[in-house]
Amino acid sequence: MTPQLLSCQKSLFSLPEGVTYLNCAYMAPLLKSAEAAGIEGLQLKRAPYHINLYHFFDQVQEIRKTYANLIGVQNENRIVTMPSVSYGMGVVAKNLDLKKGDKVIVAAEQFPSNVYPWMNLTKEKDAELLTIWPPETKENRGEKWNEKLLDAIDEKTRLLAVSHTHWADGTVFNLKALREKTKEVGALLVGDGTQSVGALPFNVEEYRPDALICSSYKWLLGPYALTLGYFGEAFDGGKPIEEAWINRFDSDNFAGLVNYQDNYQEAALRYEAGGRSNFILIPILQAALQQITQWGIPQINKYLAKITEEPLQKMREIGCQIEKANFISPHLFGIRLSQDFNLEKLKERLTEEKIYVSFRGSAIRVSPYLYNDKDDLLKLTDVISSVKK
Ligand SMILES: Cc1ncc(COP(=O)(O)O)c(C=O)c1O
Repeated sequence: MTPQLLSCQKSLFSLPEGVTYLNCAYMAPLLKSAEAAGIEGLQLKRAPYHINLYHFFDQVQEIRKTYANLIGVQNENRIVTMPSVSYGMGVVAKNLDLKKGDKVIVAAEQFPSNVYPWMNLTKEKDAELLTIWPPETKENRGEKWNEKLLDAIDEKTRLLAVSHTHWADGTVFNLKALREKTKEVGALLVGDGTQSVGALPFNVEEYRPDALICSSYKWLLGPYALTLGYFGEAFDGGKPIEEAWINRFDSDNFAGLVNYQDNYQEAALRYEAGGRSNFILIPILQAALQQITQWGIPQINKYLAKITEEPLQKMREIGCQIEKANFISPHLFGIRLSQDFNLEKLKERLTEEKIYVSFRGSAIRVSPYLYNDKDDLLKLTDVISSVKK
């Protein structure tokens, strides 16, 4: 049975009329249901006598289950919460056995949380950080960039740290091909899922990354300061960044916490950041993940493909440079404008029209979601067209 196409879901959010928000890659607005869950969590803190083991342990476990199900992970104890992507990459860096002359590979202009750890580590270990730049060409830029990345992986490569979708211009990286090549040479593949998971289908069983770190405040519609990390078998038995008491064996036995334990809890749970039982942020994220589960990530992607198809075609017709459809995803794409367009005027007009996008590097980053419709994107197209010289 073909799943039904979703319709616009704006009524589930609190975005005012007159605002055209095409900037989910910057920050997602809260769902009304997630906002209500957060308020409930806040109110719980004024009555701490109601806070019990469920809030310390089970709520987080529910997030693990819901998220594991969304990304195709069998064992939910491979999912941990942490404050940021930089924290998750810190865990990877701490456990990466890097030697002199080894290579870490990144794509150019990645988000800094997935670059600074490798700059530091390669310097410390006298290893090489290899940055793969996109080709100069405007034709088939995405395809050729992918080829360059693949070609760079060799016997000296220990880690490829990339994302599924480039955060600045939306280039989609072929993680399956990159995984195969990294496997051949025995290198780890670590993904930053922040700009893709939730809007672009991704299945851990299928792609087999060694770790996947994903901030929740964009395409997972979660709160700020809550990130989800998946750690595969390559990280079993590793060293956590900190020694959170709750990650040790028997930590739900509050009366016995000073019977210090040598053992951690199973699978990846040792990597969870301290203070994980956040009674406000956790319910917000759980409400959001439940809604995403109900919609289905493939359906979200299909809806976005439907509303962007005609506007993308029109944008290309008026002279916007946009990557070919198979190397961008409809949830995040970069538009590059030639000298024929007045960029300063465009910024003014966008502000006047209350159209929200981001300017990242050389691209205008457009990132619609289910609260948008085709008219929102056509409105953007008209504004771009109006600043053509
Ligand atoms: C690709 C990507 N990764 C990570 C982040 C956030 O990183 P952190 O959680 O370390 O602040 C962002 C924020 O824009 C991002 O676009």
